[in-house]
Amino acid sequence: MAELALRAVTKTFGTMPVLHGIDLEIRSGEFVAFVGPSGCGKSTLLRCIAGLEEITSGTFQIDGRVMNKVAPAERGIAMVFQSYALYPHMTVFENMAFGLQVAGLQRAEIAARVAQAAERLQLTPYLKRYPKALSGGQRQRVAIGRAITRQAGVFLFDEPLSNLDAALRASTRVELAALKKSLPGTTMIYVTHDQVEAMTLADRIVVLRAGRIEQVGRPIELYRHPANLFVAGFIGSPAMNIFPVGFQGQEAVLKGGLRMATGLDLPGPQGHLGLRPEDLVLSETGCLSGQVRLIEHLGEVQLLHMTGAVDFIAKVSGQVRIAEGQTCRFDPAPGALHLFDAQGQSVTHPCGFMPKRAFERG
Ligand SMILES: Nc1ncnc2c1ncn2[C@@H]1O[C@H](COP(=O)(O)OP(=O)(O)O)[C@@H](O)[C@H]1O
Ligand SMILES: [Mg+2]
Repeated sequence: MAELALRAVTKTFGTMPVLHGIDLEIRSGEFVAFVGPSGCGKSTLLRCIAGLEEITSGTFQIDGRVMNKVAPAERGIAMVFQSYALYPHMTVFENMAFGLQVAGLQRAEIAARVAQAAERLQLTPYLKRYPKALSGGQRQRVAIGRAITRQAGVFLFDEPLSNLDAALRASTRVELAALKKSLPGTTMIYVTHDQVEAMTLADRIVVLRAGRIEQVGRPIELYRHPANLFVAGFIGSPAMNIFPVGFQGQEAVLKGGLRMATGLDLPGPQGHLGLRPEDLVLSETGCLSGQVRLIEHLGEVQLLHMTGAVDFIAKVSGQVRIAEGQTCRFDPAPGALHLFDAQGQSVTHPCGFMPKRAFERG
């Protein structure tokens, strides 16, 4: 059991501010992912939580106890890094046992904990091997095993899968999901730049940008109701199509005079309109038209890279017969429009001022 609370946390390296006042509460047993562009402060925030960096101002609490000055080893936190940081001269068993020996546990207790972690991570056949005789995925599992044996209340992962190839990432991701289920009381924070990992593993996602939180929410909330242009462009792949628009009455006017009904009286005159590639529906009378510049066939779906008055990407069924150079028209799926004011804030977000039916969708 471990509940985390960060209040107005800042971090400055020398004179360079990196975190600008982070307010965040993480419930016991929750799995939270930190996402954001490279250099936005994800690792720094994680290291502040671990105690590897000192917080410049603000407070960090675990279960109500202020941790600002508490040593890393006293926080009940285990951290798994991107580079596995295994000891090359120790076997898998010794790597997993080392921290427990340092902590002065009895041999029998150590053996039992290592055996249990190894079983859970399918490492039992490899306990006598050295790291150099393991695959990248197995090494990463040993690093995770070390965290499990510590029986910490909080696990921190900093891009743990980023050194693995695509297939191994996918299988290790599934193992992590199983691990999360098997440790329901353990609070986990997971830094990644991989959206799929964040979307599939996390109970909640924290989107960071330049040391500030842009939005916190369940993965599906961020996908359906991004609070601002940044989150709209960051969550979803391929990224949401975003068009600068003028608002005239209940219409959005795109470049080239393309008009789209919004059904809303918007605070004008300027803003942005967002449409996810998967929310564009082929229609002979569609309001959005263009020429197919390029097709990416992905089997089940195809991505149509469209060019015209505005450029955009549409994701349509792989079954539809379309050729490059062809002209296509699309309509937005009902309720699929994302509208943003001149400051980039969503006006179709549930917390915005718009009536509820305007953003609800099936
Ligand atoms: N020890 C440090 N000293 C000085 N600057 C640092 C240090 N650690 C990180 N930074 C800077 O802080 C910013 C955030 O870094 P980081 O937290 O590693 O980002 P992310 O993990 O999101 O890629 C970057 O500009 C980075 O150069
Ligand atoms: Mg990092």
